[in-house]
Amino acid sequence: MSEQLSSNKTPLQLTVALSFIALVSMFMLVSQQSFATGKTTPERAEELTHLLLHDCGSCHGMTLKGGLGPSLLPEQFKDKNADYIKYTILYGRSGTPMPPWKSIISEQDAEWLAEFLLSGRIAQLNK
Ligand code: HEC
Repeated sequence: MSEQLSSNKTPLQLTVALSFIALVSMFMLVSQQSFATGKTTPERAEELTHLLLHDCGSCHGMTLKGGLGPSLLPEQFKDKNADYIKYTILYGRSGTPMPPWKSIISEQDAEWLAEFLLSGRIAQLNK
């Protein structure tokens, strides 16, 4: 009985699953396109600064002056460059609590974050 019921449902479930997959792939295409334009939109920039203060801040300190992780203020990066920061964000540091972020932060966004940290604009957010 229950077997019959579930086999009756299958075509509908398949349709639902397929439309879901189609939607997800469309979304992925669209978001990849916006990565490809090489621009971090103002909306994404806002999300990224939120992430910076809340998620990164949980280890690097609320004002990013350092905590479990080192400070992320410009003085920290005096003899380092944007790529160093970008790759640390994307791939993390194995053997330390610094996690990789590449599943939720694109290369473009990591570059934006690196430039943002180097620029010292974070100080304005902390005020
Ligand atoms: C779970 C804790 C944790 C979280 C969350 C975290 N970090 Fe880190 N981070 C660390 C630790 C610990 C180190 C030091 C690693 C080491 O010893 O080399 C580090 C190192 C770094 C460095 C390199 C600093 C340097 O001078 O070498 C950067 C850049 C950095 N984190 C950025 C970020 C950003 C941006 C985020 C948020 C997207 C973030 N981290 C989230 C723990 C964390």
